[in-house]
Amino acid sequence: MRKPEVSPKGLFDPYYVPKKLLHRDRELESIKGIHSDSFADDYGVNCLVHGITGVGMTVFSRYFLTRIVPNKFDAYTVYVDAKNKDILEIVSDLNNRIHIKNNRPITVAFDLDVLWMQFKRAATTSQRKGVFVIDNIDESNEEVFSKLARLSKEIQASTIGILNSHDYRFLTKSGATAMAYDFEIPLDTYTQSQLYEIVRMRVEETFPLRLTDEVVRYIADIVCEFDASKPKTSIEALKTLYPLASRGHEIDSDMVRNATTDIATFHHEQDYMETIEAISMNDFMTLLVLEALSGHLMQYKTETYIDRKTLNEVVQIKCEELGVIYAREDIERSLQSLIFQCVVFESGYSKNLLYVLVPPEILYDTAVAMRRELVKRK
Ligand SMILES: Nc1ncnc2c1ncn2[C@@H]1O[C@H](COP(=O)(O)OP(=O)(O)OP(=O)(O)O)[C@@H](O)[C@H]1O
Ligand SMILES: [Mg+2]
Repeated sequence: MRKPEVSPKGLFDPYYVPKKLLHRDRELESIKGIHSDSFADDYGVNCLVHGITGVGMTVFSRYFLTRIVPNKFDAYTVYVDAKNKDILEIVSDLNNRIHIKNNRPITVAFDLDVLWMQFKRAATTSQRKGVFVIDNIDESNEEVFSKLARLSKEIQASTIGILNSHDYRFLTKSGATAMAYDFEIPLDTYTQSQLYEIVRMRVEETFPLRLTDEVVRYIADIVCEFDASKPKTSIEALKTLYPLASRGHEIDSDMVRNATTDIATFHHEQDYMETIEAISMNDFMTLLVLEALSGHLMQYKTETYIDRKTLNEVVQIKCEELGVIYAREDIERSLQSLIFQCVVFESGYSKNLLYVLVPPEILYDTAVAMRRELVKRK
């Protein structure tokens, strides 16, 4: 069997369509069903696809256009990205693409009405049905979608409009809206484990030397916790890690934190010290737990997590060294307060895995300094 191709295209091409669209079966069934009916009975249909920015709207529509439509329907497809384009550019794009798809020569024009007429003629006279997609609809270009949706009804074609949740609310809730659509397909955010699978699949498609499961899980955890589990943010992090990984560097937790600093703008060191000070006031055990946890993560840079059992063992050793009485419930209670204060996090994949977001060195130094302080005071 031929090894599937590995190429960084999947990180750098915004229109890349992965070999599989994960965890969108229900939505794909729904858009397929809508189109099956409209093709079977020969009527035009318009849909809106919406979700939060970065959730995977573009890839959903492109997957449908490039993988499903050609296999299931006798239709030609036209995709236009309206982002940062004025109306003239969008219509001109539509016109160019429809002529290319239908193998027709194009007459150059720079007038909006002329371009629209040319497009309309091409769409109306085509032997096959058209499936049109306008990505990134907003207030500035809404009229193109509306016009296209109306035309679709007249000529039994289909228009799919894509817009983010914000514009969706704004454009569909205002009473006098011209947003004509029959169906809507909301795209939900993913769970941590779904996001993990998406990121892992993309790593397999793009990184020649792969990344460890720990690193992939860590990226998924951070994005899930701080960025509404947007796949886009995870792919951006992979983009940052790619040059390092492809040069053969082993990716460690510091590198992942650096690649995700934009989303998780953590508190300043000072804030952390204050938080830790507040939780650990007279609480020797919490400081010891934090010290053990961050000490371990410092020592094993490529391990992005520490599990509870290992943590217990490390704390136990520390307690013995210091001659402190060790009780397992105390460790758990200390851990709970660190988790509650967002100093330590539990992985969304398994509560048994613990991670931190500030460099463990900072936590370690703070914990050690405060523990010494406590001892001195006593
Ligand atoms: N279900 C999925 N399976 C595989 N990859 C996915 C899935 N959902 C999203 N992705 C990937 O996540 C990244 C972001 O997706 P996409 O560009 O479609 O987001 P978007 O919602 O259109 O973002 P924007 O708001 O910026 O337009 C892409 O690399 C895309 O391939
Ligand atoms: Mg998009």
